[in-house]
Amino acid sequence: MAKARSFFTCQQCGYQAPKWLGKCPDCQQWNTLAEEQVQPANSRSLAAPGKLQKLSDISSTAEDRISCGLTELDRTLGGGLVPGSLILVGGDPGIGKSTLLLQAVDYLARDGIALYVTAEESSRQVKLRGERLGARGEHLFLLAETSLEEIFKRVAELKPDFLVIDSIQTIFTRTIESAPGSVSQVRECAGQLMLLAKGQGLPTFLIGHVTKDGSIAGPRVLEHMVDTVLYFEGDPGHPYRILRAVKNRFGSTNEIGVFEMQETGLREVANPSELFLSERPDKSAGSVVVPAMEGSRPILVELQALVSSSSFGTPQRTAIGIDHKRMALLIAILDKKVELQLAGQDIFVNVAGGVRLDEPALDLATIAALASSHLNRPIHAQTVIFGEVGLTGEVRAVSQPELRIKEAARLGFSRCILPRSSLKNIKAPAGMKLSGIRHASELLELIFD
Ligand code: TYD
Ligand code: MG
Repeated sequence: MAKARSFFTCQQCGYQAPKWLGKCPDCQQWNTLAEEQVQPANSRSLAAPGKLQKLSDISSTAEDRISCGLTELDRTLGGGLVPGSLILVGGDPGIGKSTLLLQAVDYLARDGIALYVTAEESSRQVKLRGERLGARGEHLFLLAETSLEEIFKRVAELKPDFLVIDSIQTIFTRTIESAPGSVSQVRECAGQLMLLAKGQGLPTFLIGHVTKDGSIAGPRVLEHMVDTVLYFEGDPGHPYRILRAVKNRFGSTNEIGVFEMQETGLREVANPSELFLSERPDKSAGSVVVPAMEGSRPILVELQALVSSSSFGTPQRTAIGIDHKRMALLIAILDKKVELQLAGQDIFVNVAGGVRLDEPALDLATIAALASSHLNRPIHAQTVIFGEVGLTGEVRAVSQPELRIKEAARLGFSRCILPRSSLKNIKAPAGMKLSGIRHASELLELIFD
């Protein structure tokens, strides 16, 4: 047997060096290199070898997608589970990853055999959670095991149709000497599971923990290996959870699924707009509703701004849920083009409900919220605002104006301020007044009561 060599691996990004370094040359983090034993390249695949096929012989139909019983999860996956796909579900501890997958796999186990490998908790704990969720578990098998080799043996015995590994950081393979959770272990285990998933067409979910800075603990390479990366996020203080596709080989990455954590597990939220607006204050300056697009779906969210005079020399600028640089740019536009003096003011912008938005369509609403807070005048409660704002203060068209307006009308809003150029070819829904504008300075005449 070839001699095992020792390597220094960055625990953040997976960079490998033959000697110890204080700073990782790849991800520039300090003190992240740890010594690991790496077996030379004889670590064989535990899965069966692949077979040669003609492209034209491989069947692919839309019906290949399998529903997980949760529409929100199916949507985030791009329309259901694809056979043989490897899906990484990341999220902070306690956010509800195990709950989500137990619910999904319980549904899947009605039509096939599912194996839930619990490397973190005992089978009894999973059973207790299952009872809370009302899991039927007809063909759902639990395995409390941390050794990858044992897991492969059980998979070969049981021949499941679905596999869940909870979590990838707690399982280990004997071919590598380093500790479970280390970069080499995580990478090797995920690699073997990928071969298994692809080789046998076994859809596999991997649960992964997330580090402080928000990336999946372990190497970035893990994200490259899998087909789909889903992040389960949310504020532990709020019951709402958002499932977001960060990478998806089988669908769009713009889709999100919205859930609410209840006593009996996760409930899907079919109408996120209603939810995000439910706690909206009446007649408060600095609050505005914006119809944002999340993938193919319009969602109405509340954007809030607070402008207050600063007690320090350098005013604070904080953006939660929107891009910080974009906010700075909009403040500058307000200053120069709309002639509202915001210099020397502390400015905070927040998207209510813990949502994160990244769309130029928010610009106009952000400007409206800032102006409203600065002037201390509430924006007309039945108004929604969207549009991109350019550097000269001009208002530019954005995608899907019609869908946004329809969603606003559905929720009872009666007025929409939008880019003038988006007005073309749009028929206003009944009870909805559309006001098209060309320049951000026109906003101030329109938004206040
Ligand atoms: P869990 O799925 O164990 O989180 P993760 O696997 O991401 O670490 O969920 C943990 C939290 O969810 C826990 O704080 C309790 C809460 N919870 C509910 O509120 N209702 C439920 O039905 C379940 C099962 C959990
Ligand atoms: Mg868990």
